[in-house]
Amino acid sequence: ASDMLIDSFGRLHTYLRISLTERCNLRCQYCMPAEGVELTPSPQLLSQNEIVRLANLFVSSGVEKIRLTGGEPTIRKDIEDICLQLSNLQGLKTLAMTTNGITLAKKLPKLKECGLTSVNISLDTLVPAKFEFITRRKGHERVMESINTAVDLGYNPVKVNCVVMRGLNDDEIFDFVELTREKPINVRFIEFMPFDGNVWNVKKLVPYSEMLDKVAKQFTGLKRLKDHPTDTAKNFRVDGHCGTVSFITSMTEHFCAGCNRLRLLADGNFKVCLFGPSEVSLRDPLRHGADDDELKEVIGAAVNHLMIGGSAAAFDLMGIAYDL
Ligand code: GTP
Ligand code: 5AD
Ligand code: SF4
Repeated sequence: ASDMLIDSFGRLHTYLRISLTERCNLRCQYCMPAEGVELTPSPQLLSQNEIVRLANLFVSSGVEKIRLTGGEPTIRKDIEDICLQLSNLQGLKTLAMTTNGITLAKKLPKLKECGLTSVNISLDTLVPAKFEFITRRKGHERVMESINTAVDLGYNPVKVNCVVMRGLNDDEIFDFVELTREKPINVRFIEFMPFDGNVWNVKKLVPYSEMLDKVAKQFTGLKRLKDHPTDTAKNFRVDGHCGTVSFITSMTEHFCAGCNRLRLLADGNFKVCLFGPSEVSLRDPLRHGADDDELKEVIGAAVNHLMIGGSAAAFDLMGIAYDL
């Protein structure tokens, strides 16, 4: 249809990431400083109704998948209602969430009832003491429990995001691959990316080629799987393993050409690229009484005109928000 969201690079956008909150109950070193991030005053954050209203417009413009992110999305008290309302949007096929898993074991049964169709859980280490070092908080056991709960509830695959950092957790790659042996877990090794204040150091980056080499030598039955064109992950399976292993090559092989993601931030700002230098407020026109058609026009224009970043050169220049 004419109101589909196609940008100036010819990319059709069918995937919306919604950051529900800037808050988080962890303080991962690579994501935020120990004292946390500066929070937008809550009156300036989108309410549940505003989120659902905007999401509905996106879905009617061709968005088929919504991912809820943060901060930590489960921190929002109205998370269940939000899931319920979003999962009822006509035309939405997937309602996903990226979470740190700290409180998920408890909340997931209800979230599943409310229509959450898939979960990505962040976990960078299998060693509790290291978990405390990386996240500056306790909770390793709870995250493991959440992963198992997700498997038990039938989520398939349960994606586990592991940001690989040299000298910190790159000695655990094989242990993470082992998680895929008996369970429908998709372990995803993510290249460490530069961030405002995350003490980015190129020495900490373990490139995809190196990770793949190691894994392929250790697990000789490793086979590449077919990719979906918009997938940011390169997918593999070790012969005989129930789950799969993937690599997200954010640094060494950009996937911008196939990227189909849009982003709505907790404060109602909208961007077409994680690294995009420009944002447009959807909250302001919405609160000034714009009707659906007017809002769709703002969104369509933004998709057409907003800048994308993500080239190697751009990494140095950007100050990136933390709404991954
Ligand atoms: P799927 O829908 O399961 O493919 O999720 P996802 O991988 O897009 O989302 P998730 O929140 O699990 O993010 C995992 C990693 O993907 C992050 O650490 C980022 O490195 C990377 N990522 C997610 N979205 C983008 C994006 O728009 N651009 C870039 N460059 N990387 C992204
Ligand atoms: N580099 C790579 N991945 C990151 N994430 C957060 N910060 C970074 C970074 N600097 C990951 C989290 C989570 C996902 C949403 O993004 O671990 O799994
Ligand atoms: Fe929280 Fe995720 Fe950032 Fe860690 S990476 S502090 S879990 S938002």
